[in-house]
Amino acid sequence: MLRLGEKWMRLVCFSLLCLWLCLPRESFARRASKVPRCPATCSCTKDSAFCVDTKTIPKSFPPGIISLFIENNDIQSLSKHTFRGLKSLTHLSLSNNNLQHLPRDLFKHLDILTDLDLRGNSFRCDCKIKWLVDWMEKTNTSVPAIYCASPFEFQGRRIHDLTPRDFNCISADFAVYETFPFHSVSVESYEYSEDQFVVFAQPDSGFCTLYVWDHVEMVFRTSHNITSRSAVYCKPVVINNTLYMVVAQLFGGSHIYKWEEDPQRFIKIQDIDTSRVRKPNFVETFKLDEEWYFVVADSSKAGSTSIYRWNSNGFYSHQSLHPWHRDTHVEFLDVGGKPHLILSSASQTPVVYQWNRSQKQFVFHSQITEVADVQMVKHFWVRRALYLCLTRFIGDSKILRWEGQRFVEIQTLPSRGSMAVYPFSVGLRQYLILGSDFSFSRVYLWDDLTQRFQPFQELNMRAPRGFNLVSVDDKDFLLSASFKGNTLAYQHLVVDLSAK
Ligand SMILES: *[C@@H]1O[C@H](CO)[C@@H](O)[C@H](O)[C@H]1NC(C)=O
Ligand SMILES: *[C@@H]1O[C@H](CO)[C@@H](O)[C@H](O)[C@H]1NC(C)=O
Ligand SMILES: *[C@@H]1O[C@H](CO)[C@@H](O)[C@H](O)[C@H]1NC(C)=O
Ligand SMILES: *[C@@H]1O[C@H](CO)[C@@H](O)[C@H](O)[C@H]1NC(C)=O
Repeated sequence: MLRLGEKWMRLVCFSLLCLWLCLPRESFARRASKVPRCPATCSCTKDSAFCVDTKTIPKSFPPGIISLFIENNDIQSLSKHTFRGLKSLTHLSLSNNNLQHLPRDLFKHLDILTDLDLRGNSFRCDCKIKWLVDWMEKTNTSVPAIYCASPFEFQGRRIHDLTPRDFNCISADFAVYETFPFHSVSVESYEYSEDQFVVFAQPDSGFCTLYVWDHVEMVFRTSHNITSRSAVYCKPVVINNTLYMVVAQLFGGSHIYKWEEDPQRFIKIQDIDTSRVRKPNFVETFKLDEEWYFVVADSSKAGSTSIYRWNSNGFYSHQSLHPWHRDTHVEFLDVGGKPHLILSSASQTPVVYQWNRSQKQFVFHSQITEVADVQMVKHFWVRRALYLCLTRFIGDSKILRWEGQRFVEIQTLPSRGSMAVYPFSVGLRQYLILGSDFSFSRVYLWDDLTQRFQPFQELNMRAPRGFNLVSVDDKDFLLSASFKGNTLAYQHLVVDLSAK
């Protein structure tokens, strides 16, 4: 609160200022000519400047002025340095201009500013104005009421009545962090010996290529290559502190390798039966009733999607699921303690298998009807609700929600040439990336209000075949295996839209 005396002084000052404003123009010009550094478009006295009919703010003002009136102009934007050096400014008016935003910290060094008039502008109350709301909450400068002109939900609101909490300004950006100079068709990640690894299947050069996160250089660096003539999938699994790698190949059979510490190398420990697995397309691992399994989706006509179980010194063939269906993908999920597999197939709609504990087998449960040509099915949870995303090469991709008895379609995502989909979350943000062979791949962000995905960002990757999220050293990376371009690691960067 100002003391009465101060208020009185201010009244006098204002009156003098008005008197000054009402003086005939020539006297301005005469007086202004005596004051150095008065901008050409303004009139100045020893301690005031008054600018009219200008589209832009002059570059400099006499440094000692205490009052600046830049009213009734058509000013649409200001530089954040506009008032730099005007330390003695006490009165500032920017009223009746065309301002939508003010640059952050515009009034920062105006330490003794007592009156600020911003009336008669068309403020857009979005993240760019959050700082002003914050500043107005704390400042002792008196600011007559101003209102939001847009966006719609804030129209007519008094800016004084807003709080910084009214703005949700945290967003994100996926930015390329590291480029791996090869094509790949699968990407997986695992932790081993307290290190973070990623492994790519590289059919061109004939490797399963392992990279390890370098905590010093802050990059993934090459760590090992497993020679594999036609790798389609390299799937790591750590069992009992031992690392195994299932290497699925298009030709020459599929194999299991084991990592040996001394000397450091992979040795082949097992071949996978080629009468069952003929044309593997995908490998998944899972733990069920304390035992480790892996399952290979087989996309040949005569092969079968087959399940293998770990048995203390090797993997044993456990079960073959329906033959003749040219499966492209298998998803393992646990719904309320009941393990399930969802098989995507080129010849029928996705099929759900359920684990029968007494038989120790997966038995046919149901088909997810209405959606054919599904390339891949992935599941995710949002606040205890189970969702599936189905990606299709021909036709739109779908989001389904489990409604207790069956899956119900809740959203269609336009997609063409999509071979890979991947739901993932970073912090509280649930994302979905939908790959595309014909255009940009799209990242979607889950919107809690509408319970739907909203388009978030387009990423330029060529023919993506798989994705994986890796979090290390407080960084989150989305890796993408690209069949026709470089393999990429995108960093998930948190962006504060109000910070600009
Ligand atoms: C506002 O005035 C009070 C009382 O004089 C003072 O304690 C406070 O630091 C001032 N706030 C700012 C942001 O200058
Ligand atoms: C793996 O192979 C690639 C391509 O030949 C090579 O550049 C890289 O150095 C190899 N990595 C290791 C650890 O040998
Ligand atoms: C884990 O490895 C140890 C040492 O190789 C072995 O003695 C033990 O039987 C293994 N446990 C299982 C469950 O395979
Ligand atoms: C599991 O299989 C057994 C034996 O075939 C059968 O009796 C039982 O009903 C099955 N359980 C479920 C949950 O399907």
